[in-house]
Amino acid sequence: MQNFSYFNPTRIVFGKGSISHLFKLVPVNQKILMTYGGGSIFKNGVYDQVKQALAGRELYEFGGIEANPTYETLMKAVTLVKQEGIQFLLAVGGGSVLDGTKFVAAAALYEGEDPWDIPSHRGKIGKVLPVASVMTLPATGSEMNGNAVISRKSTQEKLGFGDVRLNPVFSILDPETTFSLPVNQLRNGIVDAFVHVMEQYLTYPVNTPLQDRQAEAVLLTLIEEADAILSDPPQYDARANFMWCATQALNGLLSRGTVGDWATHPIGHELTAFYGMAHGETLAVVYPSMMRFKKDAKKVKMLQYAERVFGLRGLPEEEMLQQAADQTEAFFRRIGIGTRLKEYNVNAAEAAEKISARFAERGWKLGEHEDIDAEAVRQILLNAA
Ligand code: NZQ
Ligand code: ZN
Repeated sequence: MQNFSYFNPTRIVFGKGSISHLFKLVPVNQKILMTYGGGSIFKNGVYDQVKQALAGRELYEFGGIEANPTYETLMKAVTLVKQEGIQFLLAVGGGSVLDGTKFVAAAALYEGEDPWDIPSHRGKIGKVLPVASVMTLPATGSEMNGNAVISRKSTQEKLGFGDVRLNPVFSILDPETTFSLPVNQLRNGIVDAFVHVMEQYLTYPVNTPLQDRQAEAVLLTLIEEADAILSDPPQYDARANFMWCATQALNGLLSRGTVGDWATHPIGHELTAFYGMAHGETLAVVYPSMMRFKKDAKKVKMLQYAERVFGLRGLPEEEMLQQAADQTEAFFRRIGIGTRLKEYNVNAAEAAEKISARFAERGWKLGEHEDIDAEAVRQILLNAA
C-alpha cells in the first residue's frame, strides 16, 4: 500500500425528509446564495422544501446553471456574489449545479485576473467561500469531494480541478428527490458511479485487499440494484442504495493507498466539449474500449475483476480478459445506454483526430502508466466507433 493522507470534511445528512435539516445546518445571520439549474427543483418540490426550511433567512437565488456548467453563466453568479456580499453558497440540484457553485466559491475570491485560470490550472485557488449542497442526482460524487468540472463555450473546453477546501461543508441526500429523475439521467448516473470505481480500481496491484473489496462492493451493488434503480414507479430503497453508492464511489476513500487511472474521464470530457454528449454517455463509450486497449497492462486486476464481479472462472486467461470488457459493455447496454460513438451520431475518425490533437497540444500522458497519449487516444476512440 502506498502512503496516503485522508481528510474528508463533508457532513452527510441522509434520508427521507432530510432537507428540513437545512434550518440548523445553514449558518444564521449570513447572506446565503441558493444556486440551481434549469428548473427541475420547481417541478419536484425541492425548491419549496428548501425555502420552507430557510424561511426568515437572507436568501438570494441564482438559477439557470446548465448541465456541464459553463464559465460564461457562472461568471454572472460571481458578479452577484461580489455585489451582494454573499457569505455562503447552497447548491440545490445535480452535479453540474454543485460543480458550478464550487467554481463560483473559488472565483469570487480569486485574486488573479481571470478565474478561468482555475480550471485551466494557470493560477492557484486562494480563499474560497463555503459551499454546501442538496444533491438531487446520484452520479458524480461531487457531494462529498472537492472536485469540479467546468466548460467554456467560447473555446469548447471542459476542464476539471479540485481542492479539499471546496468539499461541501455538508450535503443533504434525500433519495426521494431522485424520484423525478428521467430514466436517461439514472442510466448516466449508474455508469458514472461505476466508472469512478473502475478508474480507481482497475490498474495494477499494490497490495490493497481492503480497498479492492470496498471497490468491488460498490460495483456489485450497482449491478445488483440496477433494475430496481431504473424501475417505475421508483423504489425508495433502491434509490437510497444508489445514492450512497454514488457518494462512496468518489469520496476519496476507495483510492487511498492505491494507484489511479483517470484516463477515461478526460477523453470523455473532450467528447462532451466537442459533441455535447452527456458525461455518463461518454464513459459508457470510452471505458470498455479503454479496457480492451489496456488489457495486458491491467491483466492482474482485470482477472480479479472478472472473477469477483462477474463470477467468471476456469476460462483461458485471454478469454477472461475479453469477457471482462465484454461483460462491462453488456452491463451498460443492459441498462439502456449506448456504448458506441455512432449511437450518438459521432464520427469516430473525426473525434479521434480532434481529441488526439488536444492531447498532443497539452502534452498529456495519462493512465496509471502515463502512456495514454495522443496516439493511444486515437486508437481507443477508433475502436469505439
Ligand atoms: O438543471 P435541472 O433543471 O436541475 O435538471 C438537471 C439536468 O438537466 C436534471 N436533474 C437533476 N436532478 C434532477 C433532475 N431532473 C429531475 N429530477 C431531479 N432530481 O438532470 C440533468 C443533468 O444534471 P447534471 O447536474 O448535469 O448531471 P450530473 O449530476 O450527472 O452532473 C454532470 C456534471 O458533473 C461533472 C460532469 O463532467 C458533468 O459536467 N462531474 C463532476 C465530478 C465531480 N465533481 O467530482 C466527477 C464526475 O466524473 C463528473 O465529471
Ligand atoms: Zn464521472
